[in-house]
Amino acid sequence: MRTLFCFLIGWLTTTLVAAQTHPNWIKQAVFYQIYPSSFQDSDGNGIGDLKGIQSRLDYIQSLGINTIWLNPIFKSAFQDGGYDVIDFYEVDPRFGSNTGLVDFVNQVHKRGMHVVLDLVAGHSSNQSEWFKQSMQADTNLRYSNYYIWAPHKPTDLTQQEASRWVEANAPRGKYYIKNFYDIQPALNFGYAKPNPNHPWEQPVDAPGPQAVRSELKNVITFWMEKGVDGFRVDLAASLIKNDPDKKATIALWNELNAWFDEKFPNGLLIAEWFNPKQSIAAGFDIDFLKPGHLFSPFERGQKAPAKVYFDKAGEGAIINWYTDFRDQYESTLNKGYISLPTGNHDSPRIADSSRHDPDQLKVAMTFLLTLPGIPFVYYGDEIGMNYIPNSPDVEGSHARSGTRTPMQWDGSQNAGFSAASTNKIYIPQDPDPNRPTVAKQDKDSNSLLNYVRKLLALRASSPALGSEGEWALVSDVNKPYPIIYRRFNGADRYIILINPSGNPVKADVPTMKAKQARYVFGTSEKSNYTIGKGTDAVTVPAVSAAIYKLD
Ligand code: GLC
Repeated sequence: MRTLFCFLIGWLTTTLVAAQTHPNWIKQAVFYQIYPSSFQDSDGNGIGDLKGIQSRLDYIQSLGINTIWLNPIFKSAFQDGGYDVIDFYEVDPRFGSNTGLVDFVNQVHKRGMHVVLDLVAGHSSNQSEWFKQSMQADTNLRYSNYYIWAPHKPTDLTQQEASRWVEANAPRGKYYIKNFYDIQPALNFGYAKPNPNHPWEQPVDAPGPQAVRSELKNVITFWMEKGVDGFRVDLAASLIKNDPDKKATIALWNELNAWFDEKFPNGLLIAEWFNPKQSIAAGFDIDFLKPGHLFSPFERGQKAPAKVYFDKAGEGAIINWYTDFRDQYESTLNKGYISLPTGNHDSPRIADSSRHDPDQLKVAMTFLLTLPGIPFVYYGDEIGMNYIPNSPDVEGSHARSGTRTPMQWDGSQNAGFSAASTNKIYIPQDPDPNRPTVAKQDKDSNSLLNYVRKLLALRASSPALGSEGEWALVSDVNKPYPIIYRRFNGADRYIILINPSGNPVKADVPTMKAKQARYVFGTSEKSNYTIGKGTDAVTVPAVSAAIYKLD
């Protein structure tokens, strides 16, 4: 009897954990990420705002996008582009107001679209009232324990830990712990294993960390009740300190996600964790994947450059990317969703000096938008806006400014982004007189923009190409040009060929046992997929991509 009981409990627990809840709309979601300062300025001050974004909803919808993620719009000191929040309950005046946001959300919803905000859960600005109060000597104030204060810096810290100590010489303590820049003091979610010799390391269930946790719930509730559809959670993996295996952080998010799912069953939480195996287990709906060296010679923090896969030289490899992708994909199947975005506000764009031919970008987009999981298009990638090297450091962007230049709409002043004088706009735009614009590409049926639209329409029309269609690599991972993979969903079956290299390539793959393979979309009808007995034969011209439907 006892064994049966244990078995039942075990079964129930695994079943409950496995049956993670997601809002119904997630399956069809296609995201557009907007860096709000850089999208559309409506009041002529050179900085984008909510009204500006609102005026571009027709365009966003015309792409086949149905969900918008806005980088932080809360009141900020803008020393890290909005990721240094002063007031979590107020929209920054540069973007509009709280009522303006409600209006924006209503307009988005009227179109059957959704909008998620960026939740900076782990830290605030050092100019927030919470932090200012916690600096005071009195430790019994409301926000006293919202941050981590220490009287001295111990000598037994690892190098990484030590790099987070900021000397403040405040009445409250000599040091505080930060998350990213010095001006971003970490909120106190507690320590996984507090060190008894470090009295400032409070356990996760101490009153301070518990108060911070409730505050986070209040922030989430405040905006959800204003109608937003969810959040992308900044640095979600880093809330609890000294938690190398992330067990305590996963437990924290399990609690928060369970609470969120019950209170807001239609709400969505996306993790910035870069490890879906952990974040989906923590209850998140979506997490991002690292792009390996598909597009950039550098990954965050890496010093020596690697050969890039999406390059005409054709010298890149996919083994590292594939190993991680496959592992993350298989481990999270039927539990949550992965995403390999076209770009984001922290990384170089896919279009740069070595990769800006429309065909190269179409090949990259074909790959990114036919993967399983949820597509995220970073604003401007759909027209091939370039990464602009040596852009000035603006609001803590450093090299990331090259990725955050204002949207290029048309041939008018500042490419239609703003009526301000050009020297006043947020970040200087691409100086190339032939820079891509929406207006030019809209008229050209062969443009990247129209290619992306058709690709997203094809994806939306097919269960196989959508978020839940099965994915498997068909070609040899060690012969990466071309990449050939299949997307299957019952009788709906596609095969995709990707060749970023400047040479035509051939491959034999195990047969798909189909009657025929029909070319339905891509950059070149000159590719070929011939069904054989034991193997299928594939040829792909230089710099091209093709999607075949199997009948
Ligand atoms: C995340 C954001 C990045 C920000 C950092 C600190 O990684 O994407 O832009 O600088 O967190 O909040």
